[in-house]
Amino acid sequence: MTDDPTGAQEFTGYKALVTGGASGIGRATAELLARRGAHVAVLDRDPADLPETGGPLVAHRADVTDDASVRAAVGAATDALGGLDIVVNNAGMGAQGTVEDNDDAEWQRVFDVNLLGIVRTTRAALPHLRASAAAGRAPAIVNTCSIAALAGLPQRALYSASKGAVYALTLAMAADHVREGIRVNCVTPGTVDTPWVGRLLDAADDPVAERAALEARQPTGRLVTADEVAAAIAYLAGPHSGSTTGTALAVDGGMQGLRLRPAGR
Ligand SMILES: NC(=O)c1ccc[n+]([C@@H]2O[C@H](COP(=O)([O-])OP(=O)(O)OC[C@H]3O[C@@H](n4cnc5c(N)ncnc54)[C@H](O)[C@@H]3O)[C@@H](O)[C@H]2O)c1
Repeated sequence: MTDDPTGAQEFTGYKALVTGGASGIGRATAELLARRGAHVAVLDRDPADLPETGGPLVAHRADVTDDASVRAAVGAATDALGGLDIVVNNAGMGAQGTVEDNDDAEWQRVFDVNLLGIVRTTRAALPHLRASAAAGRAPAIVNTCSIAALAGLPQRALYSASKGAVYALTLAMAADHVREGIRVNCVTPGTVDTPWVGRLLDAADDPVAERAALEARQPTGRLVTADEVAAAIAYLAGPHSGSTTGTALAVDGGMQGLRLRPAGR
């Protein structure tokens, strides 16, 4: 792990937990927080190549749909870190189709991961975040939401509904905990070049055309990088955003706010 190119070390002494931190956006976030000085625990149902002891990123195996495993992992991570100041609720899963295409079990499964996963992790973490605030630190929660919460995307009815709920939950949590000194924000990424999107492209009839369509949907003309989302999460989690709570920070290549004319016209 190299030093952060910005040289920033604003997380020195901070303890952070990142769910879904073994891959993609969560992995980039865990690595960035660690490079900037934090001690970081990853909660993931599949820790991949991350060690479960030792190393700058320690993985705790848990599934966010299982309350007992989440409580055990949050407790073990907090014990190992010696406290907890930052929670990044990032674990999530996708779903494709219109409102007709997913059965009830799939709706419940996606909400269980994307929404209740945040509820379970936050519930387990809050006593530790309160202790962080009581110790004069600056605890923060950042949720990984999505552009799908805020813009109508085709073939994403279930996924969008789950992320819309994440957005609403972010606001409600921010209101509930602001007077305890705990800030709560979310990021709303556009399409990010992660293993998840790689799997979607692999499954497409024409992966090259599908990638081109996803790139063209973003005004910047390219996919977002996981590092760009990680940098936004780090800003919201860190000491420089002390007056920012209850917000959604777009990292979407301009997808939500811009209305471009066709190129050259
Ligand atoms: N990739 C995108 O285009 C994009 C865009 C907007 C939002 N997001 C959101 O970003 C987050 C991360 O996505 P990514 O693209 O990095 O995906 P990814 O597949 O690369 O990583 C997701 C990680 O979450 C873990 N995970 C999944 N379900 C879990 C569960 N039940 N319990 C514990 N861990 C679990 C996986 O093991 C994996 O390590 C998700 O919440 C997703 O909705 C992604």
